[in-house]
Amino acid sequence: MKKALITGITGQDGTYLANLLLEKNYEVFGGMRRNSQDELHRLRVLKIHEKVTFINLDICDQFQVFEAIRNHQFDEIYNLAAQSFVGSSWDLSIPTTNVNSIGVLYLLESIKRFSPHTKFYQASTSEMFGKILEPIQNETTPFYPRSPYGVSKLYSHWMTINYRESFGLRACSGILFNHESPLRGPEFVTKKITTQLCEIKFGSREKLILGNLNAKRDWGYAKEYVKAMWLMLQQDHLEDYVIATGKTTSVKEFISFCCAELEIDLAWEGEGEFEKGFDQKTNKLIIEVSKDYYRPAEVDILIGSPKKAKKQLGWEAKTDVKSLASIMVSFDRERLS
Ligand code: GDD
Repeated sequence: MKKALITGITGQDGTYLANLLLEKNYEVFGGMRRNSQDELHRLRVLKIHEKVTFINLDICDQFQVFEAIRNHQFDEIYNLAAQSFVGSSWDLSIPTTNVNSIGVLYLLESIKRFSPHTKFYQASTSEMFGKILEPIQNETTPFYPRSPYGVSKLYSHWMTINYRESFGLRACSGILFNHESPLRGPEFVTKKITTQLCEIKFGSREKLILGNLNAKRDWGYAKEYVKAMWLMLQQDHLEDYVIATGKTTSVKEFISFCCAELEIDLAWEGEGEFEKGFDQKTNKLIIEVSKDYYRPAEVDILIGSPKKAKKQLGWEAKTDVKSLASIMVSFDRERLS
């Protein structure tokens, strides 16, 4: 039985990855920070909360990291622990850097010293491309991060490569483009849209207030993306891969897919921060823009090339963004009705 540690196991990706590894008969360890809130709600949705062995682990505590890695001698470590919300990273730049950059260094250093046979996956991100320098981003596209989050992730991306090249660590990064699911956190735009549009439909909310409606993202289904993480660690030579669908969609288009699912007949008026969405059946204003949700520096558009992943890992995205919107709306409609 292989032993895997997932840091950040209580998040969206941690939960789907734990499920996948349990199906593959791994002994799954979940790193968790002590917290008084119920952190296991996502694992409960998939009914796996009793199948994981939890260990106290804050990756910012270097002694805890050293000990966990020395004592358990994991076969694989998936580092999904992060301050993952880009929007908060300007206000939280120091804690974001501590966990997203320094925490990763503690993991790499511990593997190097105490458990060099352990394979290591680092959750890198399309946010490293930021203000894009090539229209379609692949593994060789230069980076230009636009947020403290993106910068912090770039550090850990390069450190993972550096430890692989300097010390022969079996370590790699997955440069994952946006990936969503019913288990997505409520602060991310897709989940905010699906939840709040359902609430509007059921009469418990009046308006959905958003930021930049014209931002475009390459959105895929998180459940499929965790398979790519696992595949990356099963290769003879570990390399870094872009994981994406290859298509881009605006926030506004995502809203229209969700409205169609909910049979909301939406009409837009105005532009930019004055753009408004009306329900044509009820004549009510249901969507507004607020500058409060604008970012100090925006990533306007991302499109990833999944060619290398398809060729070398045999991985490709199966769920398009419209089907993804449908999956997320169905889940929230059921949950909130
Ligand atoms: N969150 C949010 N809330 N975003 C909004 C809103 C809003 O009300 N209105 C517009 N947006 C725009 C943001 O400005 C951004 O351009 C886009 O919607 C997507 O925002 P998020 O869903 O917060 O995701 P992200 O692209 O910033 O980052 C996500 O994907 C990365 C790539 O995989 C996060 O999951 C990151 O952790 C991840 O690295």
